[in-house]
Amino acid sequence: SSFSTSSSAYAPITVKNITVFGSGLMGAGIVQVAAQNAFDVTMVDLNPEALKKGQDIITSSLKRVAKKQFPEDAGKQKEFIDTTMARIKTSTDSEAAAKNADLIVEAIVENLKTKQQLFSLLDKVAPEHTLFCSNTSSLPIEEIAKATKRTDRFGGLHFFNPVPQMKLVEVIRTDATSQDSFDALLDVCKRMKKTPVSCKDTPGFIVNRLLVPYMMESLRIVERGEATPEDVDTAMKLGAGFPMGPFELADFVGLDTMKFIVDGWRKEGKVDANLVAPVKLLDELVAKGDLGRKSGQGFYPYGGVGGKK
Ligand code: 3HC
Repeated sequence: SSFSTSSSAYAPITVKNITVFGSGLMGAGIVQVAAQNAFDVTMVDLNPEALKKGQDIITSSLKRVAKKQFPEDAGKQKEFIDTTMARIKTSTDSEAAAKNADLIVEAIVENLKTKQQLFSLLDKVAPEHTLFCSNTSSLPIEEIAKATKRTDRFGGLHFFNPVPQMKLVEVIRTDATSQDSFDALLDVCKRMKKTPVSCKDTPGFIVNRLLVPYMMESLRIVERGEATPEDVDTAMKLGAGFPMGPFELADFVGLDTMKFIVDGWRKEGKVDANLVAPVKLLDELVAKGDLGRKSGQGFYPYGGVGGKK
């Protein structure tokens, strides 16, 4: 019915095909979890090398999941991996990949202009009913959505690293997101066997809004010489039940990512300035290239790629 202009013209949306842009840690994780739960998925990146890396991330994670789900049954493990991989296509052709998507999830570089450019293109080629969302952790969804004419079908789906393991997804609605779109996003999360929480389009949503200032305050404790990173980590693991202490977590997330988030929030001015005040220790480590696990050195040294200290 093409004469209706209300958002209900697109309802009800049942998502079957998902296209994920970005084959990094987050993108690959989202592709994997979708495929594990019977969605047909296309993973898109700029070149075959990036896609190969994404596939490798998925394969090694799937092996872990398979071993856990089917212990001592190599046959079932292989079947699970093969069935899941069979649901995943890869592509470097953004337009073609958008054309058969019911839902597009963007997990590319955290750059507003780049994301806007991508969505502006996708808006022109994707079907009318296609829902768009971003996995951004630091940019306003509303700003990204502005690049499209489908702000009612635009929201946020914020996953957590490691995606196959972390049960939460923050589902973000802007003032323009329609109820039908939002409901469809919640439904997708549940079908991915994740637990969704509803968030407004605010800096850091829920998790990072709390986690980032907490990590910054941990840095200040160490910078003032009040405790060592090791003791702070031990304290929060054994005293507060966190799986990782704030310094282990900072190394895990990436110190550059943390700095990018706080610098962005400071500029934006929506978060209390004291919570995101710069910390010299963080800026110095990032300037040195000590970015955490991915560079082999952060607050702790890491032997081998992604290895533990
Ligand atoms: N794929 C599949 N499974 C994985 C996995 C992966 N990549 N990584 C870990 N797992 C599973 C393991 O198989 C294991 O499963 P089991 O307990 O059911 O057997 C479980 O996770 C625990 O793994 P390990 O025993 O190897 O290691 P740990 O017990 O040290 O747990 C951890 C690792 C899950 C990463 C845990 O330390 C943790 O939860 N850390 C906190 C992570 C966190 O806070 N993430 C959010 C970061 S913020 C973010 O992502 C937002 C962004 O926008 C900045």
